[in-house]
Amino acid sequence: MSTQPAEMNANPSVDFLPLEGTDYVEFYVGNAKQAAHYYMTAFGFQALAYAGPETGCKDFASYAIRQHKLTFVLTTPLHPDNPMADHIYKHGDGVKALALRVPDARAAWQETTARGAKSYLEPVVKQDAHGEAVISGIHTYGDTVHLFIERKNYTGAFLPGYRAWSNPYYAPASTGLLYVDHCVGNVGWNQMNTWVKFYEEVMGFKNILSFDDEDISTEYSALMSKVMSSGNGFVKFPINEPAEGKKKSQVEEYLDFYRGEGVQHVALATSDIVASVRALQSRGVEFLKVPTTYYDDLLDRVGPIDEDLEPLKELGILVDRDNEGYLLQLFSKPVEDRPTLFFEIIQRKGAKSFGKGNFKALFEAIEREQALRGNL
Ligand code: FE2
Repeated sequence: MSTQPAEMNANPSVDFLPLEGTDYVEFYVGNAKQAAHYYMTAFGFQALAYAGPETGCKDFASYAIRQHKLTFVLTTPLHPDNPMADHIYKHGDGVKALALRVPDARAAWQETTARGAKSYLEPVVKQDAHGEAVISGIHTYGDTVHLFIERKNYTGAFLPGYRAWSNPYYAPASTGLLYVDHCVGNVGWNQMNTWVKFYEEVMGFKNILSFDDEDISTEYSALMSKVMSSGNGFVKFPINEPAEGKKKSQVEEYLDFYRGEGVQHVALATSDIVASVRALQSRGVEFLKVPTTYYDDLLDRVGPIDEDLEPLKELGILVDRDNEGYLLQLFSKPVEDRPTLFFEIIQRKGAKSFGKGNFKALFEAIEREQALRGNL
């Protein structure tokens, strides 16, 4: 593994694409009403805003849900001739847009398209009684896009076109999820460096960590990964490419079932992973389990930690340490029937890395699931 220090951009005037963080993650799904209910019930999101025929959207319906600073949008087409329907037919339910908050959505579009990004949405001003927002967008890997959201002049519930939405009979308790820590993309064979270059040249990101197939391979499931970070470190996009192993790489299984490149997992931050995972599991979120032997020599491997070992072992929470501290993490099983998108729950206690020490135990757990699906 090669590690370069994360170069934070000390002078924001030289950052041509200042990002204030992830604004929201938008999923195209077969039934947005039910998907919103799943994320509210199982993950603890609250109803926030709705767009659909009743608000003037004739072609689709969207439900925005929120938990602390974390916002998901579940969108579904209302007609088969809507291109969203093609997206769902091809990919199944999945992430369409990683929306990034910017101070100036026009400048974000101009700077990125001038550097070679393919435009997805030219800057558009959306208005309602609560003010205006400017939105633009560019394509990234596969059919995934980045939207740039400028909302400094908007005070409504979510965005113009949506109306505030709540259900007086149903307000699920939070599971303590706070914000998006990172979003990982799976790209095709020999495509990782293309996308590393894209994030460097088009979006001004830096490659802060690299893992090759020596780092990330078990007997079967090999992959390579590079972590791209925005200049200020607020947005991190690791990129995975499959690598040759004895049998099929987990990334290749994703590419086969997603029918192309796309978002593999979204990592959600918590400040109390034991409480969050206990709540998520009790509400039916399924997680990957490592063998309990993982815990036998855990403290020898990672050194002293603040948490009691027993609840970590009971819930299957993984621990890893780097030079700056440690992190606790756990990965869900895929949240749809195709073995594609899943979620990571992560609590950072100083560590800025991504759990390399857990890759082997974790990938063996993934392979057991792959084998059960007959895809290894
Ligand atoms: Fe991750």
